[in-house]
Amino acid sequence: MAQVLRHLPGFRDPNLLVGPEYFSDAGIYRLRDDLALVQTTDFFAPLVDDPYAFGQIAAANSLSDVYAMGGKPITALNIVAFPDKELPLEVLNEILRGGAEKVSEAGAVIVGGHSIRDAEVKYGLAVTGTVDPRKFVTNRGASPGDRLILTKPIGSGVLTTAAKKGLIEESDLVEAITVMCQLNAAAAAAMVANGASAATDITGFGLVGHAFEVAEASGVSLTIRASKVPLLAGAVELAARDCLTRAHKGTLEHVGTMLRAENIDSTLLGVLCDAQTSGGLLIAIAPERAAVLLGALHQSGCSRAAEIGFVEPGGPAAVALIP
Ligand code: CO
Ligand code: CO
Repeated sequence: MAQVLRHLPGFRDPNLLVGPEYFSDAGIYRLRDDLALVQTTDFFAPLVDDPYAFGQIAAANSLSDVYAMGGKPITALNIVAFPDKELPLEVLNEILRGGAEKVSEAGAVIVGGHSIRDAEVKYGLAVTGTVDPRKFVTNRGASPGDRLILTKPIGSGVLTTAAKKGLIEESDLVEAITVMCQLNAAAAAAMVANGASAATDITGFGLVGHAFEVAEASGVSLTIRASKVPLLAGAVELAARDCLTRAHKGTLEHVGTMLRAENIDSTLLGVLCDAQTSGGLLIAIAPERAAVLLGALHQSGCSRAAEIGFVEPGGPAAVALIP
């Protein structure tokens, strides 16, 4: 997306506080001194068989980019592609029911949407939220000394790929599905309350790819202790059985020599680069507030949230993985 956007004319408007040049997945537009809109959209093809779970996951994922900026979702539009000749409409009904449930859990409402006939099912939301234009969080504010906190375990791409390949049962996906269905709402509230300096959500570029974006946008280097990164059960074992998504290679190529990963097992490296769906927030926060934020996260249902590293001045490596 970044490559395409680079060639489009830039918009100039003093109220456009966060536009495409941030390479974040949501934009921010100021309406008043104390009120701004956060807008984002996301949709994709099913990654689990259960249509209801898929609807929940897709909606949680779409809402996440509003949370990553410290915003609160207010309205959402359904985006649907559905092969109505090949699949019964009950499937679509279940997808939309899952999505609606997550939107209402977020305290937002679905105001409409658009559907098309397509050979492959796809679902997601366009979400509008609000944020205080003086208090939003972006990927740009990380500064040396900050601690890094990740709010959800990594491994959803590996687990869903393993299920598609028949290496595990859909029943073995319970943990992954629970994690992907979880809203980043509580994590965002805790992050804003404790004054995070930067944040992003972890999705298609994986932990390393999104950490790289934060490093580049903030002009710093992120050091991640690989052994501290919370992982879904089975993630490394299944990655070793060829269940990494293609995205891990894309991230490795994209980050290239800006990644330093000495003494890191290559399978674990693949997992840390692999695509996530509806992943957690990666939050940078001043060291004296990190413990309080971590405690608040654990208390608000982010039971696997962990401190995984720290921020250093920009150097030859944008991301350094250490054991
Ligand atoms: Co997104
Ligand atoms: Co995002």
